[in-house]
Amino acid sequence: MNGYRDFLEMAEQRYSVRKYSDRLIEKEKMDKVLRAGQVAPTAVNMQPQRVFVLQSPEALEKARNVTRFTFGAPTILLVCSDKDKAFVMKDGQYMGTVDATIAVTQMMLEAFAEGLGTCWVRGFDRNDVIREFDLPDNLVPEAMMPIGYPADDSVPGPKHAENIPIEEMVKYI
Ligand SMILES: Cc1cc2nc3c(=O)[nH]c(=O)nc-3n(C[C@H](O)[C@H](O)[C@H](O)COP(=O)(O)O)c2cc1C
Repeated sequence: MNGYRDFLEMAEQRYSVRKYSDRLIEKEKMDKVLRAGQVAPTAVNMQPQRVFVLQSPEALEKARNVTRFTFGAPTILLVCSDKDKAFVMKDGQYMGTVDATIAVTQMMLEAFAEGLGTCWVRGFDRNDVIREFDLPDNLVPEAMMPIGYPADDSVPGPKHAENIPIEEMVKYI
């Protein structure tokens, strides 16, 4: 697991990579990343997460047309939820976003375990994504995730180390 002792150490070391090398991701690694998204827990096991792997020059250009956060990555995952599949709670909460988010998180951490970098990107307008990728009505864009080998001079952004105090986050009651 990338030389890390345990999961916590891995979670602490992961950071948003905003500069990538051109090196393409090996198929076996990509398959493992996608598998991590496939096995993610989802509400009522509806599995509404849908993943587009953007690798062609045309697809990557479309990504650049909808967000400035592509960072030269040779691969970008566009993760959607399927409105027709996702569970909706009795109180109205749409679980598709939650489910897709968990899938993205698992893929992000598996990528890191494989020595790859990622950056979670929500800096786009959903309507632009729907139009640019000609998505069917049932798909809701949830996240984009550049993924690949970090550039040699990639470093964590200044916010990476800014964690709120544990007392602010946690209250034992
Ligand atoms: C829901 C979500 C949306 C985000 N959107 C963007 C984005 O559009 N562009 C970007 O550069 N980073 C984005 N980030 C990355 C955060 O800025 C980053 O995780 C945070 O600053 C902590 O830094 P770290 O990931 O390096 O630890 C996003 C992260 C999350 C969880």
